[in-house]
Amino acid sequence: MNYLRSRSLKRLLSLGRRSNPDEECADADAVAAEPPPPSKPTWRCFSYEEVDQATNGFHPDNVVGRGGYGEVYCGILEDGRAVAVKRLASSSAAAADEKKEKDFLTELGTVGHVRHPNVSCLLGCCLDRGLHLVFEFSTRGSVSANLHDEKRPVMTWAQRHGVAVGTARGLRYLHKGCARRIIHRDIKASNILLDADYEPQISDFGLARWLPSEWTHHAIAPIEGTFGCLAPEYFTHGIVDEKTDVFAFGVFLLELISGRKPVDGSHMSLLAWAKPYLNDGVVQGLVDPRLGDAYDAGQLRRLMFVASLCARSAAAWRPTMTEVLELLESGEISQERWRMPEEAVEDEFWDFDDLDDFDEDDDDYDDESDTPSITSSACSIHAND
Ligand SMILES: Nc1ncnc2c1ncn2[C@@H]1O[C@H](COP(=O)(O)OP(=O)(O)O)[C@@H](O)[C@H]1O
Ligand SMILES: [Mg+2]
Repeated sequence: MNYLRSRSLKRLLSLGRRSNPDEECADADAVAAEPPPPSKPTWRCFSYEEVDQATNGFHPDNVVGRGGYGEVYCGILEDGRAVAVKRLASSSAAAADEKKEKDFLTELGTVGHVRHPNVSCLLGCCLDRGLHLVFEFSTRGSVSANLHDEKRPVMTWAQRHGVAVGTARGLRYLHKGCARRIIHRDIKASNILLDADYEPQISDFGLARWLPSEWTHHAIAPIEGTFGCLAPEYFTHGIVDEKTDVFAFGVFLLELISGRKPVDGSHMSLLAWAKPYLNDGVVQGLVDPRLGDAYDAGQLRRLMFVASLCARSAAAWRPTMTEVLELLESGEISQERWRMPEEAVEDEFWDFDDLDDFDEDDDDYDDESDTPSITSSACSIHAND
């Protein structure tokens, strides 16, 4: 584990501890209701024996998730608390391992310094015999599983609406409420987890980035994330700022409303499919048919309007998460305030026609989800899982 031998671990873990008042949240009103950021990390180191015992020796029956990293196991600590243990799996390629270690440490260095009801709670880590992150267990798993697993009950409108508002609160906290701006970069349904009461928690901070307050945005390579959720300026130029997450949040709203995946089996993007309904305000066309008419039409229109603003191709015309919450929660919506000038509208259409440009023979196709994923030195994009 090269990163553990380097100074990177120390540096990453100390990132959030430096407190510069100039970097504190500029939008005091937006976060007045939020809990204060933790002054020091609240997590601890676990021994290998503790995590091993909790997960019944990393028993295959305890696996609750698989991702780019490796497996996630459920377990019970000695004090009775339910936990999820994310274990880094080693691969045959050293370069791939180094990348995974870096993402793992990024996650530890980021999520270890945040605390909010709508952000996954890190309890600690174990650096013995591999790398392990220990989180509070989110009983109901991911929003993706709840929306798309046919064996589970259909999510009700109230649950979906609560998830939309809670996730918006968590994102606003990451953007505005932390000592430093955090851009998540991989907001999607499989990274939003649900507790017993369907309260959402943003998780998986492997791609997250701290952004210094003096930078408006940051250009990042390689481009990583998930097809169907990537903002156009990020996909084409690697430009990252809060609006990258706002775009992905817009796609997430569409997924909650429609019950469709960001990219479907025929490689059609959800956004391209939804655009005509959003433009014409056709509620019935967009809403998940499994809901029948069991939804609040006022809330649905509001969510549709917010989704259409968030998923705008022009980043400057997307709302901030503070504005998203105002739109979701306050009475009047002024369509006029959000109207784009004609010139901007002309460039507006963004879809995933680009997907057709990838030659199926050359690129990696994910068998399970049947959605394309590319990996190159410049670009590493996963299928939506
Ligand atoms: N705290 C948790 N509680 C319950 N399930 C979890 C938890 N953390 C992760 N999972 C499950 O594991 C899956 C993968 O975890 P994630 O952190 O997204 O890893 P990756 O970076 O590999 O995508 C999630 O989609 C979810 O199903
Ligand atoms: Mg994930």
